[in-house]
Amino acid sequence: MLQSFKISEKTRHYLDLEEQYGAHNYHPLPVVLDRGEGVFLYDVDGKRYYDFLSGYSAVNQGHCHPVLVQALIDQAQKLTLTSRAFHNDLLGEYAAFITNYFGFDKVLPVNTGVEAVETALKLARRWGYVVKGIPENKAKIIVCANNFHGRTLNVISFSTDPSSRTDFGPFMPGYEVIPYNNLPALEKALQDQNVAGFLLEPIQGEAGVVVPDEGYLAKARQYCEDAQVLFIADEIQTGLARTGKMLACDHEDVRPDILILGKALSGGLLPVAAVLANDEIMLTIKPGEHGSTYGGNPLACKVAMAALTVLQTEKMAENAAAMGALLRQELAALASPHIGTIRGKGLLNAIVINHPNPEAAWDLCLALKENGLLAKPTHGDKIRFAPPLLINASQVKESVEIIGRSLEIL
Ligand SMILES: Cc1ncc(COP(=O)(O)O)c(C=O)c1O
Repeated sequence: MLQSFKISEKTRHYLDLEEQYGAHNYHPLPVVLDRGEGVFLYDVDGKRYYDFLSGYSAVNQGHCHPVLVQALIDQAQKLTLTSRAFHNDLLGEYAAFITNYFGFDKVLPVNTGVEAVETALKLARRWGYVVKGIPENKAKIIVCANNFHGRTLNVISFSTDPSSRTDFGPFMPGYEVIPYNNLPALEKALQDQNVAGFLLEPIQGEAGVVVPDEGYLAKARQYCEDAQVLFIADEIQTGLARTGKMLACDHEDVRPDILILGKALSGGLLPVAAVLANDEIMLTIKPGEHGSTYGGNPLACKVAMAALTVLQTEKMAENAAAMGALLRQELAALASPHIGTIRGKGLLNAIVINHPNPEAAWDLCLALKENGLLAKPTHGDKIRFAPPLLINASQVKESVEIIGRSLEIL
């Protein structure tokens, strides 16, 4: 398939540079981008694409949102990093802003998503020992099969994906994996008194946008409360208006004990992540026991406040709900024999490709690229459709027209 599409000399130059000098830990589509604006990306030859990945949901606010860019520029000219050895004038303001925004007592600011997950796991263990009274080194965390929470050694210790784990052992103990969307399995696992927390994605993004049954989140949260176990929601991909509500947990009025955010917390401008919890949990970690050089830096604080503000002022959750429904409806109307399943919530969606060729999803993504839309397969046969949240109805319709045309190559 690849050979039948022409790659420009300019593009080839950049692909070759990366191939020769960059580690081969990704398998990107052969497109080289140098500009983004709103829902669009542009390649080095000036070709325009709909972005249907949004930097894995980091760019919910749209590429280079002017309010975010201005916040970044203003702050970059003033102060960018102090470290936490000293105070800066924005951390307190940001902490007040984000805790008020989500209704928690405290925030612990970090940088990348996986760092926030690690922080949440440390908090849950610490709380397990000092509040719940779990015997030393016995704390357990329940997680779900097919999870994706990042790439550190600890976090891949409880991954069930061989491509994340193979030849990276030995792994960290203290985790129990149960099936996702399975309440009896959770109930059983919670019988162990040494369980400190239950970590889950409210919708499993990397697994291919797996949406649990209605009522699962609310019941799981209740089971955790009954068992004195922390309900830890990894909303790094599902949060920040992506699924049509500010948090995916909001669909079931569930408030997690620990909330993990990342990605769109900066709208794609720089790595910003956060862990939110109430005092009983957060204050179990004392000065010197956890931290990060860049966590809570003034540049990140300023951009994160702008990123959260824009989600509200531009009603992005409402738009994601409406445009997501339209997208699924238009995809269904294609009635393509090659689309096995269409699923998702808001603008976090996936199709499952129905085709005997195992490369069909990749080939379709190449055709989409040719036709002006960028998307990437996950786990072989699934393709996520997750554009920036400011997409409008005519853009959704044009995108689905591109998808329909591209499906013809299969
Ligand atoms: C649900 C979830 N958790 C954690 C992560 C890891 O975030 P990061 O890549 O910023 O470390 C991701 C990234 O895709 C994610 O989707």
